[in-house]
Amino acid sequence: MDQEKRGQWASNFGFLMAAIGSAVGLGNIWGFPYKMGANGGFAFLIIYLILVTFVGVATMLGELALGRKYGMGVVGTYRLISKKYTWIGWLGFLSGFFILAFYSVLGGYTLRYTIGFLLELFSKGSGFGGMGGGQFFGSFIVNSGANVLYHFLFMGLTILIVMGGVSGGIEKFTKVAMPALFVMLLIVIVRSLTLEGSFSGVEFMFAPNFAAFSEIGFMKVLKTAAGQMFFSLSLGMGCMITYGSYLSKEENLEKNAVIIPVADTIFALLAGLAVMPAVGAFMSQGVEGINFTAGPGLLFITLHQVFSVGMGGVIGNLFGALFYFLVFIAAITSAISLLEVCTAYFIDKRIEKGLDPSRKKVTLVTGLAIFALGLLVCLDGLGSGVGGGAVIDPPGVMLGMENIRAAFASWLDFYDMISEGVFMPLGALIMALIIGWSLKTTVIKDEVEASPNVLMKSYQFWDICYKFIVPIGMFFVLLGQLDDFFGLGIF
Ligand code: TRP
Repeated sequence: MDQEKRGQWASNFGFLMAAIGSAVGLGNIWGFPYKMGANGGFAFLIIYLILVTFVGVATMLGELALGRKYGMGVVGTYRLISKKYTWIGWLGFLSGFFILAFYSVLGGYTLRYTIGFLLELFSKGSGFGGMGGGQFFGSFIVNSGANVLYHFLFMGLTILIVMGGVSGGIEKFTKVAMPALFVMLLIVIVRSLTLEGSFSGVEFMFAPNFAAFSEIGFMKVLKTAAGQMFFSLSLGMGCMITYGSYLSKEENLEKNAVIIPVADTIFALLAGLAVMPAVGAFMSQGVEGINFTAGPGLLFITLHQVFSVGMGGVIGNLFGALFYFLVFIAAITSAISLLEVCTAYFIDKRIEKGLDPSRKKVTLVTGLAIFALGLLVCLDGLGSGVGGGAVIDPPGVMLGMENIRAAFASWLDFYDMISEGVFMPLGALIMALIIGWSLKTTVIKDEVEASPNVLMKSYQFWDICYKFIVPIGMFFVLLGQLDDFFGLGIF
């Protein structure tokens, strides 16, 4: 492959910002805080860290090494390993399509909320039409025009950045965006922790509650932690294969494969410190509609209420705008990586045919196709439209399913089930098996040691990971996801 035509990271720091940008996203800021709090706090964290160490880091290293070795996107990499594995590459490619289709709609929400708080700041009442958190969200999700508009804006920005190329677009953007995200997060943390009653939030999230293992069930806690871990690290769909393929042979893969998960976990914990103390503070002050148990409603309902009613006034609007902008940054740096996986396939293909890569054109067409797929997510009111409100019915209704399982409740859930539920854990599972049993772990060692003066440090450890731990871990994730989406009651 012609690496010059494909593009390369200008520096290892740039690569790290892009990769950490991919990992740190809605999963960290939205999912992690409430899942950790609801599943045993510090006890959950211990399990999460064990999973990151034994499953996450090895999978990360595997993806980066395969990408750099073969120098192609996810489809090309698996095809080069062996023609019989090409389909695994396609699972990754399709996952990128489906995840980004709904991720971009949610990214659009973060834009809407940022603009909402800015409008409130400058002309009171115009940002959210005087509605509270729950009411606004309810009206927003069935407002298909607004959904399409913000999905379009979010996807448009993502396309523009990816069009700029690997170092000229993605790296340039994430190199500024990620440090800025970090600083913004610290500012929100200071505000959050200095609120009266904030300690209850710290307690909710961090206090060890080993009783959760028996109350909720240890396997359920493990399942939640495992699913969260692999989504949060952007594993299983070749994001890291693609990003690894732009990495110079000079760079130390083993080190990078540790830094990314560590940074991702730190961001998740920091996000918890930004969010939960504020929720705890206003909950203990008795503000309406604010509690820890909102689950998925945390980001767009509870926190809206925290800023608009809890904090209120100019400060509330200011921090509301800052916070949702920060979430927007986290989301778009992840969206970029998803689009790049799909774009890279077409670019590789064009280069193979001896054509000009035409990155701009390819990115635009791919991005618009994903935008179109996301329209279904915009038009079904997140499933709330069953029996009214939806322009297009969610798949459960369309397919005439009597029992609308979670997987069919909305287009978002449906896309999520295909990708996060099936394709990705399956992809990661098979990748580990291929490395551990077919190519043998030496393929990773050789690639790590292709860097000058680098000796692989933990061969034995990786070998056990690829052969046994990761496949078992990923099989477990797969079961857990199917259990969630189809309500199988396995765990
Ligand atoms: N990791 C991101 C998050 O936490 C989402 C994401 C980006 C992702 N790229 C991915 C998830 C690839 C799985 C695979 O929000």
